[in-house]
Amino acid sequence: MANGVNRVALIGTGFVGSSYAFAMLNQGVTEELVLIDLNKEKSEGDAMDLNHGLPFAPAPTKIWFGDYSDCKDADLVVITAGANQKPGETRLDLVHKNMKIFESIVSQVMASGFNGIFLVATNPVDILTYATWKFSGLPKERIIGSGTILDTARFRYLLGEYFQVDTRNVHAYIIGEHGDTELPVWSHADIGGRSVIDLVQERQKYKQEDLEQIFVNVRDAAYHIIERKGATYYGIAMGLVRLTKAILQNENSVLTVSAYLDGEYGQHDIYIGVPAVVNRNGIREIIELKLTDEEKEKFSHSAAVLKNVMKPFFQ
Ligand code: LAC
Repeated sequence: MANGVNRVALIGTGFVGSSYAFAMLNQGVTEELVLIDLNKEKSEGDAMDLNHGLPFAPAPTKIWFGDYSDCKDADLVVITAGANQKPGETRLDLVHKNMKIFESIVSQVMASGFNGIFLVATNPVDILTYATWKFSGLPKERIIGSGTILDTARFRYLLGEYFQVDTRNVHAYIIGEHGDTELPVWSHADIGGRSVIDLVQERQKYKQEDLEQIFVNVRDAAYHIIERKGATYYGIAMGLVRLTKAILQNENSVLTVSAYLDGEYGQHDIYIGVPAVVNRNGIREIIELKLTDEEKEKFSHSAAVLKNVMKPFFQ
């Protein structure tokens, strides 16, 4: 914290980063927001454009185009920089390109004297969150990936539509890789306290195959959005703002983020999407749900896929 105010440093002002900055100003989340990107012109333009909107914002935010030295006094460094999926590309396909970019970014942040929390959004987010932990040398609980926060939001949105209830009354998690091997935790999904599984069994109008289709739509959502508009950015940006608020406001909220497992869910030495308590110090604790055998098997498969991709980078 620089002179008693919250400072967030955003690295990457592409679609996701600039959407995040826009959402941060509109929600008045931090006192200082510094934009860092290789594309100086674009980032300077973003800072100017955003500053001109400040008279409409709920709270004053000092925003400027800066450099890595501005990370020294940052409480939170958010990384959205890197290549994103092209149509037909999986998130895991991006690992080689983005691993190199991350090594450079994280080393420059650490060279500034940064000693706060990293929030990683770039894909493959679970692997790049692990890489950020390795490259930074910071404690594992201070490295957080956006994980399945957006997948869980998509899941809750679609379940809310199906059961015709406000998404805030839908409690359901997507866990695992933020990607093709993620899985729904049906055994802990409820609508206003009523188990989704019970609702489907008790009421004719709800069908099991509808629920399965809802999960498929969640898992494949990014592909369908990318086919239509070339990238996804509003949903993930709002998820990153949600996470930023949980950290800066010391909320102790439970969010499905990419967190380091050290035995939880039977996994070790991996960052992967699980429900975790998030506060000013990063990850306070992992919430270990009692999974069914089928859910355990899918989660283990998801972890194994991530480990297999990580292996060549971190022997
Ligand atoms: C998506 C990106 C953030 O799922 O991976 O939209």
